[in-house]
Amino acid sequence: MIKCHDVNKSFKVGDRSVHALRGIDLSIVDPGFYAIMGRSGSGKSTLLHMLSAMDRPDSGVVEVSGHSVHSMSESEATMFRRKEIGVIFQAFNLIPTMTAAENVQLPGLLSGDLSKKTLDRSNELLEMLGLGDRSTHRPEALSGGEQQRVAIARALLYKPRVVFADEPTGNLDTSASKMVWSLLKEVAAEQSVTVVMVTHEPEAASYCEQIYVMADGKIVGNIDTNENEGAEGGMDAGTIATRTQHLLGATQ
Ligand SMILES: Nc1ncnc2c1ncn2[C@@H]1O[C@H](COP(=O)(O)OP(=O)(O)O)[C@@H](O)[C@H]1O
Ligand SMILES: [Mg+2]
Repeated sequence: MIKCHDVNKSFKVGDRSVHALRGIDLSIVDPGFYAIMGRSGSGKSTLLHMLSAMDRPDSGVVEVSGHSVHSMSESEATMFRRKEIGVIFQAFNLIPTMTAAENVQLPGLLSGDLSKKTLDRSNELLEMLGLGDRSTHRPEALSGGEQQRVAIARALLYKPRVVFADEPTGNLDTSASKMVWSLLKEVAAEQSVTVVMVTHEPEAASYCEQIYVMADGKIVGNIDTNENEGAEGGMDAGTIATRTQHLLGATQ
């Protein structure tokens, strides 16, 4: 599903160079809900940009759903983002002049495809995400949680095998955040989607089955939240926070 090998990326800032990714190796084979954690500036968003063809690595291999993302042309990358993957952002990125339904249909509109199949899929997703009675509302008339659910529906329009989310609950309160995490977990489990979420919240990561911890442009370790398969299952946020600190401490 997702494979990175020796991925490097630097940015020029004035006469300085920032080495944002330093030899990332990552392999995610099964569908499921995965987290990438790490402090601010550790390279999480840069990695997501490489995986979602929003930017190119300087070197290395990036493969997603059988596509060689590292070597895509601009037009291939555009089609890939519209039809092969879904992307969810912290700031929702909805079009303010469009209704919820039109926002969900946006990848279709941009591809010249407002076929019955696409419109039916959009309605199905709005229902599935509990937005059936919100479809004609513009974003300004929706709560933050509802706006992010519209963005999730938009990401799922073309039934992607892989969805990327960068701090999707950074602008949401606790109850809306929990709803988004549950929905992403449900989408991963019930529709066999690989969902990769960047987060700095241990509670968000507790919904995921595997947590990759980043520091200074590298993946310094991973946490399997099902490793203590007790009666309760999973791993609580406190344990995740401790384990993450441990992995980060070991790198300093
Ligand atoms: N477009 C850019 N231009 C210059 N520096 C960048 C750019 N994007 C990211 N960086 C730098 O790369 C490093 C990693 O950033 P980022 O991937 O955004 O981290 P995170 O998402 O973990 O907070 C930081 O030092 C950041 O300042
Ligand atoms: Mg970031």
